[in-house]
Amino acid sequence: MSVVPEQSESVALRFPTSFVWGAATASFQVEGAISADGRVDSIWDEFCRRPGAVHNGDTGEPAADHYRRYVDDVAMMKSLGLGAYRFSVAWPRLADLGFYDRLVDELLENGISPWATLYHWDLPQSLEEKGGWTNRDTAYRFADYASAVVGRLGDRVTGWLTLNEPWCSAFAGYASGRHAPGVTSGSAAIAAVHHLLLGHGLAMQEITAQAPNTPAGITLNLFPVHPASDSPADLDAARRIDGLQNRIFTAPVLRGEYPDDLLTDLAPYGLPDLIQDGDLATISAPIDMLGVNYYRAYLVEAGGEPDGPSEWVGAEDVRFLTSGHPRTEMDWEVQPEGLTELLVSLNEQSPGLPMYITENGAAYPDTLTDGVVRDTDRITFLDGHLRASHAAIEQGVDLRGYFCWSLMDNLEWAAGYAKRFGLVHVDFETQKRTLKDSARWYAGVIGRNGLLADG
Ligand code: FCB
Repeated sequence: MSVVPEQSESVALRFPTSFVWGAATASFQVEGAISADGRVDSIWDEFCRRPGAVHNGDTGEPAADHYRRYVDDVAMMKSLGLGAYRFSVAWPRLADLGFYDRLVDELLENGISPWATLYHWDLPQSLEEKGGWTNRDTAYRFADYASAVVGRLGDRVTGWLTLNEPWCSAFAGYASGRHAPGVTSGSAAIAAVHHLLLGHGLAMQEITAQAPNTPAGITLNLFPVHPASDSPADLDAARRIDGLQNRIFTAPVLRGEYPDDLLTDLAPYGLPDLIQDGDLATISAPIDMLGVNYYRAYLVEAGGEPDGPSEWVGAEDVRFLTSGHPRTEMDWEVQPEGLTELLVSLNEQSPGLPMYITENGAAYPDTLTDGVVRDTDRITFLDGHLRASHAAIEQGVDLRGYFCWSLMDNLEWAAGYAKRFGLVHVDFETQKRTLKDSARWYAGVIGRNGLLADG
C-alpha cells in the first residue's frame, strides 16, 4: 500500500524529471546475522568487542535484522515510492553472496534500482591482521573482491560506488582510532588514504571491465571549510583542514595529483614515498559520477591544543568552532546552505561532473508514542537540504539524485544504537518498523517530485 499523499498541492520547487529519489544503508549497520552463511569477522566485529570502544557495548547483532527481513523492507521502500536503494556489500560475506543476489532481485521486482557500495568500512579482520589499509596489498585484495561482486551482481546493479567515505576509514580508523580498527598513528592513516584510493582505482577497472555500461564512482564525505578570520594563521588552518578532509581525495580522483601543499605537509608522515609509478593514473581513471555525503560545514581557527589522538594529521592544533546554528543529536550543526556551496564548488572544479548526494540526514531523539514518531526536526532538516540541492541544480550543477541517510534506524558505529538516523523507526528488540512522520513527508516529496512552498 502506498503512503504517498494526494497530488493536489501546487509544487513550488520541482526536480528534474529523471531525478533519483533514494535512501541508503550500510551492511554492518543494518544486516545483523553476523554469523550466517559463512560470514567472517570484520574489523567492526573486533572493534565492538573492545571494552569502551562502542557506546553501550553494542554490536552488529541484531542491527535491523535486514539480512532476514529484506523482503518486508523492500515492500516498505516501495510503499514510500523510493526509486533507488543504496546498500553496501559486506566483504566478510564473500564466501556466500547469495543475500545480495536475492536483495537485488527483490528490489528490481518492486521497481527499485539497486545501488551498491563495495566498501562501507567492514574490512575482513583477517586482512587487518596483515596491516589492513596500511598494507598496499589490501588494495589488490579489494580489487579481487570487487571483481567477484561485480561478476555476480553486475548484470542487475544500477549504480556502483567503490568506497564510502575513505576519510573515515583512514583518519577515524587509523589516526584518532575512534572507529575500527582503532589504530592511532598519523603515518598509518596517510598510508591508508593512499591504499584506499588505489583500491578505488583498481575496483573501477573491474567495474569497467565487467559492467561497462553501469555508472560507477566513489562516495566522499565533503565539507565546506571556512576560516574564523582572515588572519594568515586562520587561513592556513582552513587550508590544512580542507586539504585533509576534501582535497586529499578530490585531487587524486578528479585530477590525478596530490596537491603540492599536502605533499609538503604530509612528507613527515610518508605520503610522497607511498606513491608508485602509475598509481595516480589508476586512481584518476574517469568516474561516471561523484557520490557526495554531506552533513555539515566546518569553521576553524588556528591555535588549539590536541585533545587525545587527533584525526587531523599534521593539523592537530586547529580548533573547530561553532557558528551558532541549531544542532542535531550528534551535535552537528545544521547548515543546509553549505550543501549548495559544496556542490557549486565541485562543479567549478570539474565542470559538468554528474553528482549524486549519496547520504544526507540527521539523528534526533525520536520518541515512539502510540505508534507515531513526530520527527519535525528531521523534516525541517531534510527540507532545508533538498532546497539547498535544488538551488545547486539551478546554478548549473548536474545533480542527479538524493539518497537519504538512512532508510531506517541502525547501528551508528561507535555511537551504537542510541543515535537514530532513520526515516523508519526500528525497535531493536522486536524489530518492528514504524514509519516516522519524516518517511511520510519524504514519500510526498518523491510522489510530487518536488517541494511545496511551505515544505
Ligand atoms: C556517515 C556514514 C554512514 C552513517 C552516517 C551518519 O559518515 O557513511 O554510515 O553513519 O555518517
